[in-house]
Amino acid sequence: MKITKLPFSVLIIAILLASCQPEQNIDIPSLIPQPVSVTSGEGVFELDSSTKIVLSEENEEINKMAELFSENLAPALGFKLETNVGLDSGSSILLELLNDEDSEIQSEEYILNVDKRGVQISANTSAGLFNGLQTLAQLMPAEIENQNKVSKSEWQIPAVEIIDYPRFPWRGLMLDVSRHFFTKNEVLAYIDQMVKYKFNVLHLHLSDDQGWRVEIKAYPLLTEVGAWRVPRQGTWWTFDPPAKGEKATQGGFYTHEDIREMVQYAAVRQVTILPEIDIPGHSLALIASYPELSNTGKNYPVNPGSKFYTIDDNTLDPSNEKVYEVLDNIFTEIAELFPSEFIHIGGDECYKGFWRKNPDCLALMKKEGLKDANELQSYFIKRIEKILQSKGKKMIGWDEILEGGLAPEATVMSWRGMNGGIAAAKMGHKVVMTPTQHCYLDLYQGDPAIEPQTYSMLRLRDVYRFEPVPEGVDPALVLGGQGNLWTESVVTLRHAEYMTWPRSLALAEVLWTSKEQRNWNNFIPRMEDHFLRFDQAEVKYARSAFDPIISISKENGNTFVEIETEIEGLDIYYSFDESYPDQHYPKYEEKLTFPPGAGSVRVVTYRDGEQVGREIRRTVSDG
Ligand code: ACM
Repeated sequence: MKITKLPFSVLIIAILLASCQPEQNIDIPSLIPQPVSVTSGEGVFELDSSTKIVLSEENEEINKMAELFSENLAPALGFKLETNVGLDSGSSILLELLNDEDSEIQSEEYILNVDKRGVQISANTSAGLFNGLQTLAQLMPAEIENQNKVSKSEWQIPAVEIIDYPRFPWRGLMLDVSRHFFTKNEVLAYIDQMVKYKFNVLHLHLSDDQGWRVEIKAYPLLTEVGAWRVPRQGTWWTFDPPAKGEKATQGGFYTHEDIREMVQYAAVRQVTILPEIDIPGHSLALIASYPELSNTGKNYPVNPGSKFYTIDDNTLDPSNEKVYEVLDNIFTEIAELFPSEFIHIGGDECYKGFWRKNPDCLALMKKEGLKDANELQSYFIKRIEKILQSKGKKMIGWDEILEGGLAPEATVMSWRGMNGGIAAAKMGHKVVMTPTQHCYLDLYQGDPAIEPQTYSMLRLRDVYRFEPVPEGVDPALVLGGQGNLWTESVVTLRHAEYMTWPRSLALAEVLWTSKEQRNWNNFIPRMEDHFLRFDQAEVKYARSAFDPIISISKENGNTFVEIETEIEGLDIYYSFDESYPDQHYPKYEEKLTFPPGAGSVRVVTYRDGEQVGREIRRTVSDG
């Protein structure tokens, strides 16, 4: 029936009834990282094609940010939100840059208000506004992540007031683009993913034994030779070295133009790209290009993932003045390309055996009164710090730079546990905490029996338990933390995503949310809601945290099985008879003994009658 056919009195009653309806309320979607304060309001804001993004004043940076927000939403919405300046009427998302130096509002803080009429985000800085926009996107239905138009007539955002700011200023992810090269567009896609969870540093590991990835105009062989290696696939460190005459066809590098584009792309998204040139060890790609810089002067190939450590000399010769001249020129170009306050100089895992055999190194040690090879490394690092300072940059390095004496102004990235960071902070240096046992995203995240091959173990819960400020350390010296994705066993962006998510959701919360607010059992359902967003965005993630964790042990001739789960409330079922267990099989309650003759146990997890974890089979000989 057409509404105009209704008698007038019925129409009036209908309108009155509609206006007396209680406010429509919807649940506030799950937010990661959990904000400082969330207060729900009454009603919803309905975003539609009439909604405008309104800037409180003309500002190029904020305008770009608004444009970016509009572009990001456009595929799912099927329309672009227009941007206006200074005209807050009708349905709008108002971006208010306070720019108030005296304000109590912290630099990355934002205040986000949603009511029936619209959205208002206020912040003191563009970074604050950007953070607010990321939260706003999370307040929208998961389908907003879809890259195709979603048939949805209204996009509801619940009324809410959020006040939010980060615990740490350094919330990083490291991508190793040396062991496997990731194209410019892949790096940009990785940035898009990380900013949704308020990461703001992308550390690019640009050089290593297996590839040099940045054009240096002064040294063209770095990318003509150093960026390429012979192709191999399979298990890293087991590959054959290059055969005689074999062509080096695997690799790639970023031109200056690529880097400028990546830096700019990151900057609009409030991300700093931290470049790392790993020296004096891990330098085989550099040495393959310019052999005169090593201790032996030999021609080594770029390593393809075969054994070479301590066999080929991958260390720069600290007694050779030419090394400092080359590095000075390299860092001139790096400093020009990357606006980052810091340059990372690596400093890790430097094998010093070739230095000990190099008469020039021994002579230098004698001349400088250096008592061992660690002090020689320290001599090298201190000279590099001076080079960086001459270019207006601060030096950061892995915690080995502490050995033999820390350079005066150095910042330390603590990876071999927390101790390097603690020692550096006790000396008054700033630190970024990236301990292997909480932050190494290249490690297994579930049972090696069913995970892609890598090494050691870093479960989701280990990341969530990370506490970046150790007792007795001045919290002001802990800039923050970082997840490190080394890519020896990570060949594609899809796999990089699988290793990154959801462990980096846990890390995002560790680095943003206050320690008191962090809660594992509360995090898990929010994470599961974000899986729906990843599904919409077609970003890969791991569900390994739902798999059973099986321990096999032997005692007095018996073999025992103990099973647990990271996530609470899962039901565990098992079989010893080689058949597939389901929820009608025996339920695991307590430690089991392998029955006589049983060769394996198969285990699976369920929740509310639905299988949630993958089946894992372990054998009696695993104990
Ligand atoms: C490192 O993992 N070698 C820093």
